[in-house]
Amino acid sequence: MCGIVGFTGKQNAAPILLEGLKKLEYRGYDSAGIAVCKDGVISVSKVSGRIANLCEKTENGANMPGHSGIGHTRWATHGAPTDINAHPHMSCDGRFSIVHNGIIENYLELREELTAKGYAFRSQTDTEVIVHLLEMYYDGDLKSAVMKTTSRLEGSYAIGVLCADCPGTIMAVREASPLILGIGVGENFFASDVTALVAYTRNAIYLDDGEFAELTPERITVYDCTGTVIQKPVSRITWSVEAAEKGGYEHFMLKEIMEQPRAVKSALAPRIQNDQIQLDDFSFTKEDLRGIKKIVVTACGSAYYAGCAGKYAIEKLCHIPVDVQLASELRYGEPQIDSGTLLIVLSQSGETADTIAAMKECQSLGARVLAIVNVVGSTIAKLVDNTLYTWAGPEIAVATTKGYTTQLSVLYLFAVYAAHTMELLSQQEYLRLIRELQSIPQKIQQTLDMNITLPQLAKKYNTGHSMFYIGRNTDYAAALEGALKMKEISYIHAEAYAAGELKHGTIALIDEGQSVIALCCNRHIAEKTMNNIVEVKARGAQVLALAVKGDRAVLAQADDVIYIPGLDPLFQSVAEIIPLQLLAYYAAKENGCDIDKPKNLEKSVTVE
Ligand code: AGP
Repeated sequence: MCGIVGFTGKQNAAPILLEGLKKLEYRGYDSAGIAVCKDGVISVSKVSGRIANLCEKTENGANMPGHSGIGHTRWATHGAPTDINAHPHMSCDGRFSIVHNGIIENYLELREELTAKGYAFRSQTDTEVIVHLLEMYYDGDLKSAVMKTTSRLEGSYAIGVLCADCPGTIMAVREASPLILGIGVGENFFASDVTALVAYTRNAIYLDDGEFAELTPERITVYDCTGTVIQKPVSRITWSVEAAEKGGYEHFMLKEIMEQPRAVKSALAPRIQNDQIQLDDFSFTKEDLRGIKKIVVTACGSAYYAGCAGKYAIEKLCHIPVDVQLASELRYGEPQIDSGTLLIVLSQSGETADTIAAMKECQSLGARVLAIVNVVGSTIAKLVDNTLYTWAGPEIAVATTKGYTTQLSVLYLFAVYAAHTMELLSQQEYLRLIRELQSIPQKIQQTLDMNITLPQLAKKYNTGHSMFYIGRNTDYAAALEGALKMKEISYIHAEAYAAGELKHGTIALIDEGQSVIALCCNRHIAEKTMNNIVEVKARGAQVLALAVKGDRAVLAQADDVIYIPGLDPLFQSVAEIIPLQLLAYYAAKENGCDIDKPKNLEKSVTVE
């Protein structure tokens, strides 16, 4: 997720663009830049690092005169956060400059086409294909060039365009990434969200997918995807800046829970093209994969639990043993690692000290490493040869949600890709699994939509005592993460137990009124866990069960049931974690906890 802004009016654009970018810094902050147009010449200034670096370089905009311009604050997805990769990007002829929020899924083929036609690329970004397409299609008609360019793009984009031939004009284009127009007096704006507008105007036009707009100081013209002028309603922005940063949600954590369908789609869609999985940043050949004797997954916290959930898919599909180890244990153990080991490192931040140390230990023993991280250019990403980014966008809440589900989704993708590469899947099974993967974002959305009773359930099951989370196999893996969510944001003690283990001791803890969350979503073993529901209820527990929509048997056993859409059991954890995230969120809200910044916790544990 990045932030884009645009301005055209009688004032100097640069200071206004910089102020707007400061308000969008929560959306991405690893590099930033602005472009302004004066007397038919576009000048650009861009730097890696925070907006403050850009303010310093431009003397708060004083050394960049011009009355129209665009700006960008970046959360890197393709290409490390460097000056070159920062936006805005320029066309070869210097006539165009653009900023972009989103992911161009077909950028590789466009880059090949444009390179073959002689367009010189400077950056590693997907975005740069846009500005060269504009140059290629421009014949004096800016609107036509914009339409031809966007007709070639697949993926999500909010784009700002500056053209040296059209001083005072800025273009804004929206497809699956938010873009709002601000209406001023003798000046007009665009921005990724209203936080960058409210200092100047509260009159806004919300572009919809497929629409684009031409802004001059006097006029805003909105077009539909056919280039026909359309009338759009003017909305009044009532949000405060703080509320706007959270997208209107009370906490970043709830916003990020709700963002998961889009985040998981961002992680998966660019890697599934024409019914084929393409991992362009994973170099293992069929022989490399067949040479793997063991896979070790190492991480901390929720990332470790994502590994526990992904293990089942990798073992089942790739027929390779998977050993999931806590990084803080692995680094001090006697890891049985050699050149036949593939180490998979999971980390949202890419900066977790224990994970880095464990990774280095395994690398010294000859392991080859695949890192699955969210932050482009993070320490872990820089230390390995193969990195699959999760492209979840910045995760602000300390308690991870979209970080976990995107990590897990990429593990599933890897499992299917590796199994197919090793020729372990029939073409029919490969396609079926690809369809399952492609359905995950929608299944997560359905899960969010189906479960509106979570606040009431959280009140009922949040008794203040310790909570049991029980399940088997993939259900148990989800229970591990669900229990951690409850602990770290509501401060209620919660433990996940392999359901089959209850009779080996822990059932002694079940007393009258004990809350038990029973995960019964893996259809192969749900019946076994339902037997455990009977056992704990016989001892006075109240049971909230998670089950797949249509499973009516569980209704006879549990006090309450949360239904989720069905997925292949191998992938089920990524959906069943959603209600557990919400259960923890509403319990924490009930307890009056600081949800986005839980006590004693930090977002990235960069020390041992
Ligand atoms: C998750 O909600 C916690 N904030 C924590 O367990 C986190 O998952 C762990 O510290 C690992 O962080 P990383 O993914 O950035 O490496």
